[in-house]
Amino acid sequence: MSQKLAVDGGRKAITLDQTEANKWPPLGEEEFAAVKRVMQMPDFYEEAYILEEEFKNYIGSKYALAHNNGTAAIHAALFALGIGPGDEVITPSYTYWATCMPVLTWGGIPVFAEVNPETCNIDPEDIKRRITSKTKAIIVVHLWGLPCEMDEIMEVAKRYNIKVIEDAAHAHGAEYKGKKVGSIGDIGCFSFQASKLMVGIEGGMLVTNNQGYYERAMALGHYRRLKSLPPESIYQKYHATCFGFKYRIHPLAAAIARVQLKHLDERNKKRNKNIEYLDAKLETLPGIRTFKTPSYMKRVYYQHEIILEEEKFKVSKEKFVEALRAEGADVSGERYPLQHQQPIYKEMNIPIEPLPITERIRDKILSLPTFPQANIDLLDQYAEAFKKITTTYLKN
Ligand SMILES: Cc1ncc(COP(=O)(O)O)c(C=O)c1O
Repeated sequence: MSQKLAVDGGRKAITLDQTEANKWPPLGEEEFAAVKRVMQMPDFYEEAYILEEEFKNYIGSKYALAHNNGTAAIHAALFALGIGPGDEVITPSYTYWATCMPVLTWGGIPVFAEVNPETCNIDPEDIKRRITSKTKAIIVVHLWGLPCEMDEIMEVAKRYNIKVIEDAAHAHGAEYKGKKVGSIGDIGCFSFQASKLMVGIEGGMLVTNNQGYYERAMALGHYRRLKSLPPESIYQKYHATCFGFKYRIHPLAAAIARVQLKHLDERNKKRNKNIEYLDAKLETLPGIRTFKTPSYMKRVYYQHEIILEEEKFKVSKEKFVEALRAEGADVSGERYPLQHQQPIYKEMNIPIEPLPITERIRDKILSLPTFPQANIDLLDQYAEAFKKITTTYLKN
């Protein structure tokens, strides 16, 4: 006998307060002190250089260049790789717009590839199918913090002489075969926007092992710093103009990000522990699928997504979500609209094909809180809410 659902007038499964449990970003005395310290520095721009040193050591890259946001870092990465008019760049459609829109700004053509429905990350097999003589780069996204299959992607890229940008905006601290994501492709890009795993409130970082890419990225948007390049650098002479963008990070954002970097691993650990605890319960329920992390990856959770096999239930996904919300669960459907369905690409005459695998899987996604500060009692209540609803709505 299943319990009466809250949506039908029954008692709510989730009664604990969730404000503290899901509060993000964590900003406190340490960040306030750092901001105050930097405001009093004789040259506050120095703070960005210290953040770069610390971040590149953490990621394991030779070079790091701080940006005012992750979008700027991706824009600069494309410039560094020399992406220009008519160049094709393969990217997933299931991502935030900043992964692919900067391609258009250089006259490039985003070519959308399917995801693997088991991971929601770009499918290396589909990348291969979309390579043409015009393909210059691939942008992969470690979606929600789960690393992409980097060995396969790098192997394809090498075979066809294509460059790889890792959009690691969701994946600070995630690892693939012992390497931090962002350090595996030709260039890695991170965001420190306020919802991310480490924040500057705004901010971004470009990392690379290639000195040429580093200098070229600097030439795009960091005029004053070009003076500090070695005299043999072809970019030094542009220090009075750069190439027309102003992309340096705000020093106070750098101050906040430095504090956040110190706590990144411990905070990721707490999120992972909470999400993995709840997912272990949810995956025992019929019609619910969670994302599995292969043994050779260490994932993080920018977002906490699961898959609802709608066909197994008597109600639609909308009704399912409504019932969960009535139980007190802070859940929603997927929040990213698919890029290949957006009007801008059509209006700019980008050839667009349907992506049936991506479209199908996106529709099944349910988004849950990441529980950065939650305790077990709240997680148990979430598990109870899901159990009530799946039991009631499961088809016979
Ligand atoms: C996948 C992805 N790429 C890039 C970005 C851009 O970062 P920012 O917001 O710092 O410009 C974001 C930010 O939300 C993102 O989610």
